[in-house]
Amino acid sequence: MAKDGDWKDKDYAAHYNELYATSAKEFAPCLEALDLKPEDSIIDFGCGNGSFLALAAAKVNKALGIDISEPQLAEAKKNLQGLNNVELLLTEFMKFNPGQRKFTKGFSRKALHHLTNPEKQQFLINISPAFEKNAIFLMEDGIYFDFPRSEIQQNMPRLMEACAEYYGSSWEAKKKDLLHSFNEEFAAGASEWESFFANAGWKVILKKPASIFYGTIIAIKQ
Ligand SMILES: C[S@@+](CC[C@H](N)C(=O)[O-])C[C@H]1O[C@@H](n2cnc3c(N)ncnc32)[C@H](O)[C@@H]1O
Repeated sequence: MAKDGDWKDKDYAAHYNELYATSAKEFAPCLEALDLKPEDSIIDFGCGNGSFLALAAAKVNKALGIDISEPQLAEAKKNLQGLNNVELLLTEFMKFNPGQRKFTKGFSRKALHHLTNPEKQQFLINISPAFEKNAIFLMEDGIYFDFPRSEIQQNMPRLMEACAEYYGSSWEAKKKDLLHSFNEEFAAGASEWESFFANAGWKVILKKPASIFYGTIIAIKQ
């Protein structure tokens, strides 16, 4: 049986890709906010099965997806067949070395909450030199919009209500995964992210909740 949250396990990756498959319609607001241009170079941190990269690559010069999971990257390779401007790299966020690469756009969805708060800060400091001035970074993830990470337990009843409302009829099927994420993973507060970005040379220009536990942050490289 797949271990919860183990992305190197092909059964867990398959479970995620089936239950949380994301349509082009759901990605449309991200693509629009990133304002992708033919001269852009974009990186997707935690690209998973490549469903976002497949849409972004058609609009930009170059796209790079990084991910720690071999099963996810194998799916991504299939989904990105024929797109010659996309590179995939098997690496852990904290070990990623951009080398000479430069990016004008950054994206990450449902992935950076795997880093602890000190890791998030160090990760942003590590990757920032690879982004051009005025680069846009869009992150959609588990983010607590009205309390810090340290107050999850006292907010659990509100979180459960918010999840039931957000996921509707699919909440029961997703409950175990969400509880695992709240209790074992490291989603942070929006204000915490804002200072991690600021300390790494970015200005947060948008904090947009989809619910109290999930939403989007957009930052601009200074
Ligand atoms: C919830 S999935 C999201 C996939 C995709 N971005 C999406 O929106 O469907 C999280 C992804 O992050 C990757 N991931 C988790 N921890 C990671 C780490 N430390 N370094 C690199 N990738 C990681 C997983 O392998 C997985 O593909």
